[in-house]
Amino acid sequence: MSAIVNLSDFEDVARTTLAPAAYAYYAGGAADEITLGENRSAWSQWRLRPRVLVDVAAITTTTTLLGTPVAMPFGIAPTALHGLAHAEGEVAMARGASDAGLVYTMSSLATRPVEDLVEAGIEGPRWFQVYDHRDRSITADMVARAEAAGCRAIVLTVDLPVFGRREREIRSGFAQPDASGYGNFARYAAAGEVALVTAGLHSSQFTWAELDWLAGLSSLPLVVKGVHTGEDAALACEHGVAGVWVSNHGGRQLDRVQAGADVLEEVVAAVGGRAEVYVDGGVRRGTDVLVALALGARAVFAGRPWLYALASNGSDGVGHAAGIIRAELENAMALLGTPTIGDVTRAHVTRS
Ligand code: FNR
Ligand code: LAC
Repeated sequence: MSAIVNLSDFEDVARTTLAPAAYAYYAGGAADEITLGENRSAWSQWRLRPRVLVDVAAITTTTTLLGTPVAMPFGIAPTALHGLAHAEGEVAMARGASDAGLVYTMSSLATRPVEDLVEAGIEGPRWFQVYDHRDRSITADMVARAEAAGCRAIVLTVDLPVFGRREREIRSGFAQPDASGYGNFARYAAAGEVALVTAGLHSSQFTWAELDWLAGLSSLPLVVKGVHTGEDAALACEHGVAGVWVSNHGGRQLDRVQAGADVLEEVVAAVGGRAEVYVDGGVRRGTDVLVALALGARAVFAGRPWLYALASNGSDGVGHAAGIIRAELENAMALLGTPTIGDVTRAHVTRS
């Protein structure tokens, strides 16, 4: 692990240890992977404007997300099927996140069911991500189970009415498991109905009207993930969401959409302080975090680096990744002259 000094190093390890089809599933993006590439390069278009002769002897990376204290404004985005990376799957990921004080967003398409996090005694802050299921009672039950399992927010992912076309998956022969391979769904599949549940994982018919129904299913705050425009960010706020999550699903859905970094300011302006704004896509460096904060994000999230860290060494790998990003963030905050998260302003960045 001492050879791993930044988040990208984890991918080099995972590429050799993961089964080829699993790596293709994790790493791939849609079509020509234009958005996948720009998710990373768009952060590099920004330059930092440090202020000097600021007292930076004490650096504090802590903040709150929807009122919950966290160690850093850097969370774990929902990603499916952690079992492909590690035998302990989501339990190991959640434990690593909990030990590091980070928000862990569990995917509804997890290998393990959400109840396993409770059984494992994991106490760190967790959110739960849902899709819209053809059988609405499944969506409702899943929200209730997430609330009972101590999740503190429901994250509705809205950029997957259908799966994107990911050519690495097709070429590698990667196959989605049936419902029995998705821990949160296994219980809905009575004998002979496994295929039915799997086929109904996404309804493709969810609209803003149904959003209000979903919000009413629990007392938890609702976050809408997969917003690409100021127009939809404003609509989400009109529907009373607590969080707007700028994301293109890691470039896995519609290729040629803008990078998260490029959409962020437009969304922040449209939200106008009515909700917290998050962003993901290609966030790999402490300096990426500072750019996102300067452009108005409350926090950033990442997907693949955490999967690669999990594949490399389970919860210890996740802890190592968290330690790296924290060290990078602390270092960059000191050099930028912003000792607390609240000190970072729009004036700290400029377009290169
Ligand atoms: C995802 N993502 C995702 N999002 C979601 O809401 N539910 C899910 O089940 C999944 N599953 C998933 C699997 C894999 C293998 C990847 C790579 C991604 C998208 C994820 O939450 C996030 O938006 C991106 O991963 C962010 O981009 P980076 O950090 O991977 O560049
Ligand atoms: C994916 C789904 C599961 O991106 O969100 O593969």
